[in-house]
Amino acid sequence: MFNLSRVHHLNGERTQKNKTPELNPQKMANLFSYDAELGCKQRSLSVQMVDGKMFIETKVAPQAGNTILDLGCGTGELSAYLAELVRPEGKVVAVDPDKERLLLAQRSYGDVKNLSFVEGNASNFPGIESESYYNIFCNYVIHWIPDKQEVFKNMFKRVEGK
Ligand SMILES: C[S@@+](CC[C@H](N)C(=O)[O-])C[C@H]1O[C@@H](n2cnc3c(N)ncnc32)[C@H](O)[C@@H]1O
Repeated sequence: MFNLSRVHHLNGERTQKNKTPELNPQKMANLFSYDAELGCKQRSLSVQMVDGKMFIETKVAPQAGNTILDLGCGTGELSAYLAELVRPEGKVVAVDPDKERLLLAQRSYGDVKNLSFVEGNASNFPGIESESYYNIFCNYVIHWIPDKQEVFKNMFKRVEGK
């Protein structure tokens, strides 16, 4: 299924609400030649950011003092948001296997006291054998990982009170 309003939005034009947009073939071609890998490393895509923030506010609902693992943190924007919400006693451990993303995250949010960025992945994250996290946040990540059963197994055993 293809969402025309979203394509139109990405084309960067404005139309009246509910009006079917005219699609410009050149703009469509440009859209699909976008280098997602590069773009995602430079800054996480805005749609996943908006979804992630909404997910945090409506489902995760972090409280001051919580310890949260952000698994597959990317460039760290949502990790920093979580860290802000659990302040002052709470902390966020943000993990990603990609060194370049972690470097960008560290550059942007390295000064946030209750946030640490650690190299790791869904099979090997800090505390995988011992730590209890109030919540394990994982946004736009599972589809990257072939063995989904293992990810859920690892996350589930480290969440408090399950
Ligand atoms: C689309 S980005 C999402 C980043 C961030 N969660 C966000 O919403 O902005 C997917 C991230 O998953 C990471 N990733 C890939 N394989 C992973 C694995 N096995 N375990 C944890 N993270 C992984 C990638 O390096 C990438 O940073």
